[in-house]
Amino acid sequence: MIRSVVCGYGAALPKRVLSNRELEDIVETSDEWIVQRTGIRQRYIADDDETTASLGEQAARAALANAGLTPDDIDLIVLATSTPNNTFPATAVEIQNRLGMKHGYAFDMQAVCTGFVYAMATADLHLRGGMAKRALVIGAETFSRILDWQDRTTCVLFGDGAGALVLEAREEEGTVADRGILAAQLRSDGSHREKLYVDGGPSTTGTVGHLRMEGREVFKHAVGMITDVIEGVFTATGTTADDLDWLVPHQANRRIIDGSAKKLGIPIEKVVVTVDMHGNTSAASIPLALSVACDDGRIKKGDLVMLEAMGGGFTWGALLVRW
Ligand code: UT7
Repeated sequence: MIRSVVCGYGAALPKRVLSNRELEDIVETSDEWIVQRTGIRQRYIADDDETTASLGEQAARAALANAGLTPDDIDLIVLATSTPNNTFPATAVEIQNRLGMKHGYAFDMQAVCTGFVYAMATADLHLRGGMAKRALVIGAETFSRILDWQDRTTCVLFGDGAGALVLEAREEEGTVADRGILAAQLRSDGSHREKLYVDGGPSTTGTVGHLRMEGREVFKHAVGMITDVIEGVFTATGTTADDLDWLVPHQANRRIIDGSAKKLGIPIEKVVVTVDMHGNTSAASIPLALSVACDDGRIKKGDLVMLEAMGGGFTWGALLVRW
């Protein structure tokens, strides 16, 4: 059967680092509070000349170089983002243009922090359905642009960045020993909308708006939702927590990551954590974490890797891939 196999990865971060200490000058907060409650120590913030499209392009070029491919080899771009450059056209199309691609097709996927899991699952369907041969799946965000920098309950949590993977349709055996995406579970429940949303939009206020979050409410649901979809993927593939080499979670909060791993019986040494360095970069957090763990040699070819995320909507999902 056809599997979508990862053949390259890449990442991009803005030039500017914003430390917790610097945030103490902006809002009534402390390094101690932020570290204790979230695990975040710093985040990257885009300058005026850095956008979701430019960071996404940079991550895409890095992933292509890692795969030994050029834009000519790609026929699909799926960009997960909630912070597009413009309301339309899709920022994926802008990245396509920046890469000099005149062929293929590109679109954005909006599932907030779960965006990258949605984008991977969607690209997988396009590749397995024969619509495309090779896909760039990108998560890119500039959440700093939609933060209320006077709201200490949200502005200390988020950061900017981008990560990308190249997926290639390859013939595999059809077992869990195959390389590639093995299974995914996606969920959403719009009744939780008010707990995490942006208070603007083209069809309502005509403005971009700012991120609003009832953090404690989101926190309450996170571990249960995450573990539910991961267990669903285990059941669908006949695998267990013991089979996993790596859990690469969405990086929102160290306490959510630890709580989910504990509930699933996954030792913390098998969990990739980058929230300390990047903060919550929404749809970019998983590919950024993957990039770090591939660069430092933790994730290797053949490893069984579980991706998971939960965020605004609510949306949540998990995806199992053999690297
Ligand atoms: O990626 C999308 C999904 N998003 C998430 O997963 C976020 C989920 N939520 C969280 O990560 C946590 O709920 C937060 C990190 C947002 C907050 O942590 P918490 O332990 O739930 O704290 P809290 O909201 O219950 O606030 C505790 C106290 C409050 O003061 P009082 O009411 O106890 O006097 C807040 O006003 O901490 C105060 N507080 C702060 N203090 C210093 C809130 N923000 C700050 C801050 N600095 N930045």
